[in-house]
Amino acid sequence: MERVIQKSAPLKGELNVAADKSISHRAVILSSLATGQSVIRNFLQSQDTISTCNCMRQLGINIQDRDNVLTIDGKGLNGLQEPEGILNCGNSGTTIRLLTGLMAPQPFMSVLSGDDSLNKRPMKRVVEPLETMGALLNGRNNGTYPPLIISGGRLQGIDYQLPIASAQVKSALLLAGLYAESETVLTESFKTRDHTEKMLAAMGADIKEDNLTVTLTSGRELSSQEFVVPGDISSAAFFLVAGTIIPGSELLLKDIGVNPTRSGIIDILNEMGARIKIENQRLVGGELVADLIVSSAHLKGINIDGEIIPRLIDELPVLAVAMAAAEGESTVHGAAELRVKETDRINAICSELAKMGTSINEMEDGFIINGSSPLKGNSVDSHGDHRIAMSLAIAGMLASGETHINNAGAVNISFPGFWNMMNQLAK
Ligand code: S3P
Repeated sequence: MERVIQKSAPLKGELNVAADKSISHRAVILSSLATGQSVIRNFLQSQDTISTCNCMRQLGINIQDRDNVLTIDGKGLNGLQEPEGILNCGNSGTTIRLLTGLMAPQPFMSVLSGDDSLNKRPMKRVVEPLETMGALLNGRNNGTYPPLIISGGRLQGIDYQLPIASAQVKSALLLAGLYAESETVLTESFKTRDHTEKMLAAMGADIKEDNLTVTLTSGRELSSQEFVVPGDISSAAFFLVAGTIIPGSELLLKDIGVNPTRSGIIDILNEMGARIKIENQRLVGGELVADLIVSSAHLKGINIDGEIIPRLIDELPVLAVAMAAAEGESTVHGAAELRVKETDRINAICSELAKMGTSINEMEDGFIINGSSPLKGNSVDSHGDHRIAMSLAIAGMLASGETHINNAGAVNISFPGFWNMMNQLAK
């Protein structure tokens, strides 16, 4: 599918962006393990979260879906059934990483696989610590890539320093830890998203978060919950950047999750000179939620590296668009993880923005952008990656002429309403 984007008039109005993908995945998995029926309101219906639902159904969980409200009949920690077929995780890294952790302690065998992109994504980061816990698992290239085959068994806890800042790995080990015979202690070098920890605590697990260390002791049942999923800050990010770089804009983004482990994009855009206001902050189910008001502003270049990176890892492609529109030089370092996402996002954003006239240099762990050369419409490609497609669409709104985005259907992975929202804004 191709989409054509024209240079945009000022953006005005109120938007409800897609529901949070990370929280939606976790709510489905943890509800399945709870005792009793859970309800998930404002669930994200997208390709990735549907992959998680389908896998949980194959594990014997009844999931009903009416108007974005899911009801899930939890079967308790020991209620999952051996799946008859392969658990197909589609394009979803969160599904395959979290389910690897969950399948490792089950008393049955399972096979996890996905699409061509997912089957090229590194799995050793989950496989190795799970093996230390006593899990029996293997995958293509000696456990490096999916498909993975997991013969369930008894696990010990682990005291583990995560070598890579990854919430997927941390969450996988916490799910395994729910079944381990001793305590699981995980320490990160930089803090990553902590939705799993917050949900487990709300459901009654024995879990403690202490700065960079999380400690989980198994043995407690999880209680069913009523979840309300906030808007996804990773989806809001496209409109935070659009509202900032398109002159004369003012947008209100309602009910966005602003958990501090996810809100780096707001901090960095404001440091660059953006005018993003956070209003009506409140706690919903343990998660911080707010309304965001963005007005257009003149941006200056910035250098980012270190502990901010996990707080905005998924927003770096659209931040590159903001950097391309900013005055002066910007650099991103410490973001080599972008190379092992749905596509190599460093290469994808550098090659596509270069086609639109941006002066951008690819580095091993990031990029250098010299802002202020005006963006020009061109024919560009999403590389099959949802966040690259949406980032290029925002670049197209600022660019002169027309921007043709190939493989634009990728947005359905996380934000199926994206193109409709763009059409509404263009009216
Ligand atoms: C996610 C964690 C991050 C992020 C991904 C979603 C999650 O991945 O990029 O989109 O829901 O836990 P990593 O754990 O690989 O950093």
